Amino acid sequence: MESTQENTEEVYLFNRNDFEKQRLNKQHELLVSLCDGNLLHPSIPKDAIGKLAEVGTGSGIWLDDIATVLGSDIESFSMKREYAGFDISAVHFPANLRPDTQYIVHDILEPFPSEFHNLYDVVHIRLMVLALKKDDIQTAAANVAALLKPGGFFQWEEIETRDLSFSPPSEITSKVKGIMRDLSMASGLTNTPSIEIERAFKELGLVDVIVEDYNSNRRPDLTSGVAEWTKAGAKAALFYAILRGQTVRNEEEARSESAELWEAYAAEIDGGVVPSLPLKMILGKKAS
Ligand SMILES: C[S@@+](CC[C@H](N)C(=O)[O-])C[C@H]1O[C@@H](n2cnc3c(N)ncnc32)[C@H](O)[C@@H]1O
Repeated sequence: MESTQENTEEVYLFNRNDFEKQRLNKQHELLVSLCDGNLLHPSIPKDAIGKLAEVGTGSGIWLDDIATVLGSDIESFSMKREYAGFDISAVHFPANLRPDTQYIVHDILEPFPSEFHNLYDVVHIRLMVLALKKDDIQTAAANVAALLKPGGFFQWEEIETRDLSFSPPSEITSKVKGIMRDLSMASGLTNTPSIEIERAFKELGLVDVIVEDYNSNRRPDLTSGVAEWTKAGAKAALFYAILRGQTVRNEEEARSESAELWEAYAAEIDGGVVPSLPLKMILGKKAS
């Protein structure tokens, strides 16, 4: 049995198993390359970061990387830093913990315990668009912003699923995109997360709010990485999407329909159809 909070209706589309952990870790490398190698946006001053939290941390790969990068910075070498990773499930938390990092099971839709309030110089969220309903984004942003010290930075990256594209488009790629879109809409998710997050940041009174646009369409060097990424994502999500989409009678039918569709999808990508990875980074700062 997974360790998750029990009071949240799970809309999250992905499984929590070894394949998924590896997929998240591989995806991390691709996303960091897409963001020009920056784990944190260049506008966030690194020297002053003492405490940093990530919510929806999954395997903690981003947190682990940022701890390594900040720790190897000669100028701030002697500074003692602390990291916290929160997630609704402990399943992907790393087995070997760094001494400066703690992992905590917590649902983003519930207020964090007050001991964590006004504590962090930076809070980070990445890829929760398939786990958060559109109407819950404001609550999630408010709960996470409460963790920030005055003057602290909030960085949130999401895939703008509306902008996923294929060149050239085909019947199969349109079908896969359509299945995911229909399920997202039926589940109350959003396909324009950056718009909702930017609005939430502004309503919370965060300042210096900006939205950065990173799209692999402008990065031919990432074409093969994005092709592998979309195939792994489709493999992980299609079964659940088809099962929950209620066009099949049982799990067996969902399994065979998703396997057949995935084979066709993968063949098109391998055959030269170029998918995009449209990432948006939303940045804001808690007023001092
Ligand atoms: C797609 S993964 C992204 C993981 C990580 N942020 C990354 O970029 O590698 C989404 C994560 O959000 C977590 N999650 C889903 N619903 C959540 C909730 N209500 N509160 C906190 N975490 C949640 C999932 O367990 C999963 O680890």
